[in-house]
Amino acid sequence: MTPNTNGCLIGVSLGPGDPELLTCRAFKLLQGNYHWTYPVRKPGGDSYALDIARRAGLKPPRAHTPLVFPMTSDPTRLAKAWLTAAQAVLEILYRGEDVAFLVEGDASTYATFGHLARSVAALDATIRIETVPGVASFSAAAARLGMPLADTDEAIAILPAGYGTAQAEQLLEHFDTLVLLKIKPMLEPFIAWLCSRNLLAHAHLVEKVGMPEERIVHDVAALQGETVHYLSLLLVRNPRRTRQQPVRGCRPQPAVAGAGG
Ligand SMILES: C[S@@+](CC[C@H](N)C(=O)[O-])C[C@H]1O[C@@H](n2cnc3c(N)ncnc32)[C@H](O)[C@@H]1O
Repeated sequence: MTPNTNGCLIGVSLGPGDPELLTCRAFKLLQGNYHWTYPVRKPGGDSYALDIARRAGLKPPRAHTPLVFPMTSDPTRLAKAWLTAAQAVLEILYRGEDVAFLVEGDASTYATFGHLARSVAALDATIRIETVPGVASFSAAAARLGMPLADTDEAIAILPAGYGTAQAEQLLEHFDTLVLLKIKPMLEPFIAWLCSRNLLAHAHLVEKVGMPEERIVHDVAALQGETVHYLSLLLVRNPRRTRQQPVRGCRPQPAVAGAGG
């Protein structure tokens, strides 16, 4: 059997922006012999992921390739972009070079890496693909706010805000914390919804967490009419979740009448 001399593709999570939130594993790996690739929105555009690596003191190797992933919901354009990126990565892998794809936040959480990995695997199922996990934006945001994402037996919902307020409304019954990602185009309806549900005091917007331009807004209503950055999220704590007794869990079970001990 001929040995597989192709390179390996690794999705390297870099955390949401603070270079100190890179894992040791990601840091060590990027000092190794890898061909760096990273997402940009248009040819010649900036890359958040590359910026985080640079701010961590890592120097891009001579071999590094931006991959264009346009900001669009047009499925045809997206499929074309993923295919083009996958073909470019395969070309490098077939030369026997290992490819590190730099990812802002965590590579398994709403990340371009998922699309890239699937597209590469669809073209060549023999390619080895790995993921280095990392700190997600909402974990860093909760830490900056000094609030728990979940305590004891609480439940967290992570939702792209594009699902709309009706979906969030349904989740309120079952979840203690709502994490609303991709909030930028949906901020106005969500402010109105938070206001109508009396939740404004429990909501916080975090923009570019961990980056030099980080912004934390507690008075979310004051953002009405403002355009926030794409890298923004809303964290909402829900004080009115109807709690049910867990079947098994951390909360003490009520004493059963007549049970002896
Ligand atoms: C495509 S998702 C990527 C999520 C990312 N992989 C993660 O682990 O957090 C993009 C959304 O994540 C959130 N996000 C990512 N990075 C952020 C940051 N540094 N600050 C605030 N929100 C961020 C925003 O809601 C943004 O619209």
